[in-house]
Formats: sequence, structure tokens, C-alpha cells
Amino acid sequence: MSKASAVLGCFYGDEGKGRTTDYLAIKAEVSVRATGGNNAGHSIVVNGHKFAMRLIPSGILSNKTIAVIANGVVLNPSVLIGEINMLKEHGIDVDKWLKISDKAHVIFPYHEEMDVYLESKRHHPIGTTKNGIGPTYCDKYERSGIRIEDLYRTDLKERITSRVRAAEKITGEKFDAEKIYEDYKGYAEVLRPYVCDTVTLLHKYLKEDKYMVIEGAQATLLDIDFGSYPYVTSSNPTIGGMLTGTGLSAHDIGDVFGVIKAYSSRVGEGPFVSELKDETGDLIRDLGHEYGTVTGRPRRCGWLDLVTVNYAVMLNGVNYINLNHLDTIGKLPKIKVCVAYEVNGEVTRDFSTNEEFLKAAKPVYEEFEGNFGDISKCKTFEELPLAAQKYVRYIEEYTGTKVALIGTGAERENMIVTIDL
Ligand code: IMP
Repeated sequence: MSKASAVLGCFYGDEGKGRTTDYLAIKAEVSVRATGGNNAGHSIVVNGHKFAMRLIPSGILSNKTIAVIANGVVLNPSVLIGEINMLKEHGIDVDKWLKISDKAHVIFPYHEEMDVYLESKRHHPIGTTKNGIGPTYCDKYERSGIRIEDLYRTDLKERITSRVRAAEKITGEKFDAEKIYEDYKGYAEVLRPYVCDTVTLLHKYLKEDKYMVIEGAQATLLDIDFGSYPYVTSSNPTIGGMLTGTGLSAHDIGDVFGVIKAYSSRVGEGPFVSELKDETGDLIRDLGHEYGTVTGRPRRCGWLDLVTVNYAVMLNGVNYINLNHLDTIGKLPKIKVCVAYEVNGEVTRDFSTNEEFLKAAKPVYEEFEGNFGDISKCKTFEELPLAAQKYVRYIEEYTGTKVALIGTGAERENMIVTIDL
């Protein structure tokens, strides 16, 4: 029986997970999205066209891979239909490849409004994407959520109306329940051909030995349990969420690819120990084009933080690292890497998501030589300049994990692969 590969972010998101999944898609017959919603934005360039994917697993872009939106996802039907139409316009046979879980929870306009309202009232603003992700998961866990399968029930109107009234009480705003009902009834018909029990389907695919890739969204430090709470998203983008978000078992997971950049970045609020609030941070942002795919927000940038990476490796059982933007960091003459935290006079390599700990933590750095020159043509590890090799080797030694994929430039082919897949 085939095993599924998992691809997940080791930091605060935007590590370039799309590149790993794009590479694995060469072999993948099934691509899966397990958690989150249209708060994610993966940009992938195929045949010179840049696709901004929000919900549908990017494996579909190969036009030969089944794309499954699994039960753990929160789904905005209007965004999804926009994405389906966009893919069809580019010749992707969506009707053949797309499968949507009947158990995925649905995002409604009142969720988006509640997201804005709750953020404005929060004692510690998070900087959410305002896509209604948190309020939809709230409804799910409060057991009032509306799932995809509920869109086909005869009592849909009553269900929507009851949620609308609750949202009105909280936000003080008025919502047009009748219009929402009509719109969603329309969306439900468009989506009907894709809806199925994806749990049974995924297990069937594994039995048929289909190679499966679970495409992570968001990242370890944004995890509701293991991230820098409260500055996190509302799901589990770590390995556990990939199981509950799909119905696969721990035995079904094979390789776990942890994606990092050769520097660190974060959007939104919250602690970031190796952040650079100076010209070097600005330079990294510009060199790495660190602006949000969805929101255009400038990302906060800093040195690579291996204390955090080790935490992500440990939590997720990462056995391969995908290191992106080696070319970007190699443009600097000197590179620093955070190898420990000094917290109230004590030096530690152990990460904690405790807010006070993270606020007090001061980065301890090791310095490396930069100026790698143009490495975009390097096809093997050995072709990299020695300074770049030393940097990569250090990451491997520190984390005890093989660096399997190395991003050396923006194009699809600018990637060194050090393992056989
Ligand atoms: P929410 O997921 O919209 O509730 O946002 C919660 C936090 O997670 C905010 O700081 C967002 O900026 C962050 N976030 C959510 N999705 C992503 C992502 O795909 N990449 C990076 N940050 C994200």
C-alpha cells in the first residue's frame, strides 16, 4: 500500500510550500488539502503563468492529479467557484480531478463580518486575513456549523437563519438571511458534482497504491495548539491536523517534508525572535519579494531561526527539509543564523510558545560567509560554492535532518534535489 507524503511549513507560513508540492506533483497521483481555508495563498508559476491558489491543492495544475479538498478545510464556496472557473479557463480539467469533502465546513458572509468585528474588539489584535476562518471553526467546534452536506438539506434555510440571528446579536449588524440562502443554494448546485465522502476515497486511493501528497497550508508556528497562541490561525497546520483533516491514520504517512527559507518571515502580529527591524530586514524583504500573495502586506523578515525549525522538526516528525531562497540569502556578504535563545540570562536551544518566554528571548547567532554569486544554474549540491555548502551542512547538522530540496532561484528548474524519490 502506498504512503502519503506530507508537506508542511516549519515557521510562520510563506516558506514556499508550493515549490515542494509542485516538485512532488511530478509523481503524485493525488494531492490533498487538509486544513485552513482561503486564508492561504500559494503562487505557482506554470508555463509562464502565475496561478494564485487559495483552496484547491496545487497538484491539480499538472492536469493529471486528483485534487481533494478534505474534511478539515473551511470552505468559502464563492472563492472556490472563482478558482474553479479560473482553472477551467486555463485548460485544467477540473471536472475530472476535483473532489470536495461532504464534511468540510462552509464559510458564510456573516463569518467574514464576525472576523472583522472580533478582531476590532480583541485585546490583542492578531492581524487575521479577515476571511472568516476563525468564526467558521468556532461554529464547527460549538457544533452549530453548516457543512457542505448540509447545503443539500431541506432545512438549510432555517439553519442559515438561526446562524444569521446569532451573528447579528454579536456584531450588531443586519444580514439578509434570504439572500444568503439563495446564493448558497446556487453555489451548492455548482459544487454538487465534486462533493463526496473523501475519507473512504482517500483510503481507496492508498490501497490502489496511488502516490498521495498532503499539501500543508499555513505553518507550525501558526498552529492553534503548538503555535505562538493567540497569534495563530484557528486550525492545526501540523502533522496531527493532516490526519484529522483527512481521516488518514498515522500509519498512512510516509515522508514528512518540512519547508523553510534560508531566512525567516512572518505576517501579522506576534513574537518573532530573530526579526530584523533594520535595513538588513528591509533588504531581505526586497531581495526575497516578501509581500503577501493574498493581501500584499509586507512581511516581517529576519535571520533563519534554527531553534524554531528544530521545534517544527520535532513536532511534525520531519525527515526531509526543503530549504528555499538559498540564492536570496547568498546575496548578503555575511549571514547570521539563530542557534539558541538567551532568556533571562540563560542560554537554551529549547523552544517554547510561552509569550513571556518569546518576548524575553534574545537570539544567539552564528555567522556565515555569504556572497554565493549566481547559484541558479547549480544542479547538484557539489556545484554550490563552498560557503553555500557550509551553510546547508550546518542546517543539516543542527536539525539532524537531511536537506532534500534546495531552492536556488525563482524558476521551477532552480532547485537542487539531493534525494531519490
Ligand atoms: P486567520 O487564519 O485569517 O485567522 O489569521 C490568523 C493569523 O495567521 C494572522 O497572523 C495571519 O496573517 C496568519 N496567516 C493565516 N494564513 C496564513 C498564510 O497562509 N500564510 C501566512 N500567514 C497566515
